[in-house]
Amino acid sequence: MTAASPVPRPEELARAARQRAWVDIDTGAVTANAQTLRRQLGERTALMAVVKADGYGHGAVAVAKAAAAGGASSFGVATLAEGLELRRAGIEAPVLVLGNLTQPEELRLCLRWRLMPTLSTMREALLCQNLASGSGRRMAVQLKLDTGMARLGADWQEGARLVTALQDLDAIELAGTYSHLASADAAPESDDGLTAEQQRRFDTVLRSLGEQGLNGGCLHLANSAGTLRSPGLHYDLVRVGLALYGHAPANHLSAVVPLQPAMHLRARVTLLRNVPAGVGVSYGHRFVTDRPTRLAVVGIGYADGVPRLLSGQMEALFNGQKLPQVGAITMDQLMLDVTDCPELDVGAVVTLLGRERQGDTEISPTIWSQRCGTIPWEILCGFKHRLPRLREGERPGWDAEDAGEAC
Ligand SMILES: Cc1ncc(COP(=O)(O)O)c(C=O)c1O
Repeated sequence: MTAASPVPRPEELARAARQRAWVDIDTGAVTANAQTLRRQLGERTALMAVVKADGYGHGAVAVAKAAAAGGASSFGVATLAEGLELRRAGIEAPVLVLGNLTQPEELRLCLRWRLMPTLSTMREALLCQNLASGSGRRMAVQLKLDTGMARLGADWQEGARLVTALQDLDAIELAGTYSHLASADAAPESDDGLTAEQQRRFDTVLRSLGEQGLNGGCLHLANSAGTLRSPGLHYDLVRVGLALYGHAPANHLSAVVPLQPAMHLRARVTLLRNVPAGVGVSYGHRFVTDRPTRLAVVGIGYADGVPRLLSGQMEALFNGQKLPQVGAITMDQLMLDVTDCPELDVGAVVTLLGRERQGDTEISPTIWSQRCGTIPWEILCGFKHRLPRLREGERPGWDAEDAGEAC
């Protein structure tokens, strides 16, 4: 090892031709989804792209830019660091921090970088007032009301009183008033009326603001489910996450608009084995071959974010064929039964989630989530940074080296 040949950094390895596993991000799909969603909205309703949690695992900056190209005019993040990441990338559009910032230093950075904090109490409002009045600038904030989620927000019955109090703080600009729906994705047959009740509470606050001549700023309530469920929930803005990434929040909402998945999980076959019938595969031998079997070892595992709960319950796509995964998923590798796919070779790229490069068959995070008892949001956010995110057109080793290979 010499100074002339430094040890490569992980991001350089990510660009190496023969990587083991990665996530392809189709930013064009994000733009198309934003356009599709925008068309669902009336003219006075804006689209906020929710890009928290690193853009639901897709890469926050890339998806923010793609969503803006499709008509999103503001962004929602969960933390101060996520907001600052957008600003560092030169994104200037309004950013709402959806989480609660409690420390003066966090709020000072919000003021400095024009990130709007969400206020649930007068405590944070007074901190903002103090910081902003010393700076000679007004600080844009948004008020959150709890209408039935019992998470962040002030009690909705306090809404008009808080708006009045905020309007007395001369260094604060109330840029918005919002609430969050707890079960807008409920299917009609299991809907307990909570969304209607939350909307009724929100409307009660808005009516009282109107009667008192108070201005709550931009009014918003809907997440993806609310947006797809009913235009009556749209108000001045909708905050869309999951649908932007190409997934409906519930099966009964999947036909409302056509969405394109933006994330495609790929991995390479690293070894092929021919084993006789009666061979136990992987830890615990929970799968035993019942015929002479060709096994493919694939370089991806639960440490990359493939849930171990999916062991024996998932497939991989290759040339349009679904290849069953067998045996326990291990930390870094999993096995496929490829007996019926003789053309698959070492180095082949299989698609575990999303679509192959050519072909319409999709393995969705919803399928995964149903099989392992969680929700598609958690699946998308679960891919670790051990997996490089590659943007469309940035597929090293794919076009040249794998020409003729499936996907
Ligand atoms: C306050 C708030 N608004 C909007 C969203 C976006 O939700 P979805 O991904 O269901 O569109 C979230 C996500 O959890 C949220 O916490």
